[in-house]
Amino acid sequence: MQNNKKGFVDVLVGLQWGDEGKGKNIDELLSNGVYSGVARFQGGANAGHTIKSGGITFIGHIVPSGCLQNDVELYIGNGVVVDVISLIKEIKELKSLGFDVAPRLYISNRAKLVSYMHPFIDQAEEFYRSKNGEKIGTTSRGIGPAYSDSRARKGLLVGDVMMPDFDQKEKELSELHMNILHMYKEVSGFEIQEDKIKEMKEKWQEAINELKQLQICDLSFLVQKRLEEGKNILAEGAQGIMLDIDFGDYPNVTSSNTLPANICLGLGIPHTTIRNVYGVIKAYTTKVGGGDFPSRIKDTTVEKLFQDTGHEFGATTGRPRMCGWLDLFALRYAIKLSGANKIFINKADICPTDNIEVVTNYEIDNKVIEEFPLRLKLVTNVKSEKLAGWGNANYGVNDKSNVSPELSVYLKYIEDKFKDLDVNIVSVGTGPDREHTINWEK
Ligand code: GDP
Ligand code: IMO
Ligand code: MG
Repeated sequence: MQNNKKGFVDVLVGLQWGDEGKGKNIDELLSNGVYSGVARFQGGANAGHTIKSGGITFIGHIVPSGCLQNDVELYIGNGVVVDVISLIKEIKELKSLGFDVAPRLYISNRAKLVSYMHPFIDQAEEFYRSKNGEKIGTTSRGIGPAYSDSRARKGLLVGDVMMPDFDQKEKELSELHMNILHMYKEVSGFEIQEDKIKEMKEKWQEAINELKQLQICDLSFLVQKRLEEGKNILAEGAQGIMLDIDFGDYPNVTSSNTLPANICLGLGIPHTTIRNVYGVIKAYTTKVGGGDFPSRIKDTTVEKLFQDTGHEFGATTGRPRMCGWLDLFALRYAIKLSGANKIFINKADICPTDNIEVVTNYEIDNKVIEEFPLRLKLVTNVKSEKLAGWGNANYGVNDKSNVSPELSVYLKYIEDKFKDLDVNIVSVGTGPDREHTINWEK
C-alpha cells in the first residue's frame, strides 16, 4: 500500500549537449523550500555548474549545486566518479566563501574513485585517437578511464579508503595504469610525464586523507530514510541527454548515462519515488569538444556573436563552446527519451541577431528523417525556420508581462512544436543570477 506521507524525487537534466544552465536552475528550485536535499547521481568533475547568488559566483564540478543554501543536504551518489582533488578544493573554496558544507555533505561508499592516473590515461587515449582519427575532446578529468575500471571491476570505491588493504590495492592499480600508459607510448608516442604523475599522486594522497574525515555512508539507505521521513529530494543531472553514452552521438559522448532513468541506479532508489522530470535548454544550442553538430551556425561571425554575448566558454576547461541554433529535432529526441515535460529555458536574454533560426528537421541524402541517426556525421542537411530576434531587450526581466513580443512568440512557437508531447515551458532565464528568472507558469 502506498504511504502518502512519503517524499518524492524530482530530477533536473540538461536536454542538449550540456551547459544549459542546470546549476542556476537547481539553485533556484532549492530556494523554494520543497526539497531537503540535492543529489548528483552520475558523471564527475567533467561537469561545471555555475551558481550566482547574492554577489557570489561559484562553479561546482562535483559538489551538488545546493552548496550556497545552508539548510540543504548534499549527496554524491554511487553512480558518480569522484575526483577527490576537486572535491576537497571545492569544500575549501566554499568555506572561504562562508559556506561550511562538510557537515551536510554525504558521499556514497559505493561511489567510484577517480585515481590520480585516470586523467593521464584520458590524455593518452585522446592522444591515440588524434593519431588514429579524431579526438572526442574530453575534459581530461579521467572520467572515461574511471568508469572503464569500474565496469572491469578493478576500480576503487570511495568506501575502500577505510579498508586496511586500500594502499595495497591502490598500488596494484597504479602499476596496471602505468603499463597502460607505456602501451600508449609504444603505439602512438604518448609522452609519459613522470614528474607530473608524481605531483598528482602527492596531491591525490593528501586529498584522500581529507576524504577520510568526510561523511562516507550507505547513501541509498540515507536517501530512502529521508523519503520515508516525508522529505523530498532533487536529483541534479550533469552533462546533457545528447551526451548520454547509449543514446548520444557515440563515441562523442560522455561515459555515463545522463538519462533520468539512471537516477535509480546512481542513487539506489526505486523508480516509484520519481515524480517530475524537469528539462533544461538554452534558447540556442552549444557544444564543446569534438563530433558533429548539425545545427551549428555556419556564419562564423554570427557564431562568434553568440559566443561573445552569451559568454560561451566552458566552466570546466575554459574552451570556447561551439554555438548553434535551437535544434528541435534533437530536442524532441531528448524530451522523448527523458520524459521531461516541464521545460526551463535559459539565456533568453541572448539574441545578438535580427533574426533567429530554428532547426526543425535533419536530412540524409535529401530525405527528411524521422529516427535519430546512429551517427550525426550521416546527416547531410538540416531544415530550418526563421523567426524575429529580440536583441538585448529581455536581460534581467523577471516578470512575464515585461517580456518582448518577439520572445513571447518564440516561446509559444517552441511549445506548439511539442504540443503532442505535452510539454510546457515553466521557467525562462533572462540572466545568470538566481533572480534573473521568470516563472512562466503564472
Ligand atoms: P550547467 O553546466 O548546465 O550548470 O551550465 P554552465 O554553468 O556550464 O553554463 C551556463 C552559463 O550560463 C553560466 O555561465 C551561467 O551563469 C549562465 N547562465 C545561466 N542562465 C543564464 C541566463 O538565463 N542568461 C544568461 N545570460 N546567462 C545564464
Ligand atoms: P555540464 O554538467 C558540456 C563533453 C566533453 C566531451 C565529452 C566527453 O557542465 O553540462 P568527458 O570528459 O565526459 O569524457 O568528455 O563530453 N562534456 C561536457 N560538455 N558540459 C558538460 O557538463 C560536459 N561534460 C562532458 O566536452 O565532448
Ligand atoms: Mg557546465
